[in-house]
Amino acid sequence: MSSIGTYKARQFNLSGLKGISDQTLEMHFKLYEGYVKETNRLTERISEFIQDGKVDQEEMPAYSEITRRLGFEFNGMVLHEYYFDNLKSGGGTGDPARSQQFYKATETSFGSYEIWKADFVGIGKMRGVGWAICYQNPSNGRLSNHWITLHEVGNVAGFDPILVMDVWEHAYLLDYKPADRPKYIEAFFSNINWDIVERRLRKDTGARSVSA
Ligand SMILES: [Fe+2]
Repeated sequence: MSSIGTYKARQFNLSGLKGISDQTLEMHFKLYEGYVKETNRLTERISEFIQDGKVDQEEMPAYSEITRRLGFEFNGMVLHEYYFDNLKSGGGTGDPARSQQFYKATETSFGSYEIWKADFVGIGKMRGVGWAICYQNPSNGRLSNHWITLHEVGNVAGFDPILVMDVWEHAYLLDYKPADRPKYIEAFFSNINWDIVERRLRKDTGARSVSA
């Protein structure tokens, strides 16, 4: 079969994080590889269904289920890549520098960095499994924080993920009790790679004219 659309699991070097063990990461990388594998497998299955140029009536239930599952697996793959990318091997500096564009963007969008953080952390503590994601609206540069259920419910179309935090229990269960998610969130913050966050921001949004 053709390899078009085949995704390869990426490698991440994240040893020595603060408060998130290498053992957790090893397990998490394996889970991520599972999402890549399933994304490829389901994409392949769908291509088989549509090979003859149509979806037959009797194929519709299986085709529908696989297509829905693809949304779950695909987002699971992509969000984990954002998550691992915004962590820094050896640990980070805690909060971003005041001079950083991201820090300024939180002030413009939320009034202050502290208020942005209270919202992001608050979302991270919500019950259920999913993600806390800070997005930037590419049309005006504003930041907003969102809760994503599982991997695929709640993502905002067209918005850019800027900071992505996994709050599924597998992200911290080897290091913390389920009720201690706040401690994991604290650990997450102490490992953020703010240079990556900074690079994800669009810098030209303020200058863009509405009619452009
Ligand atoms: Fe995860």
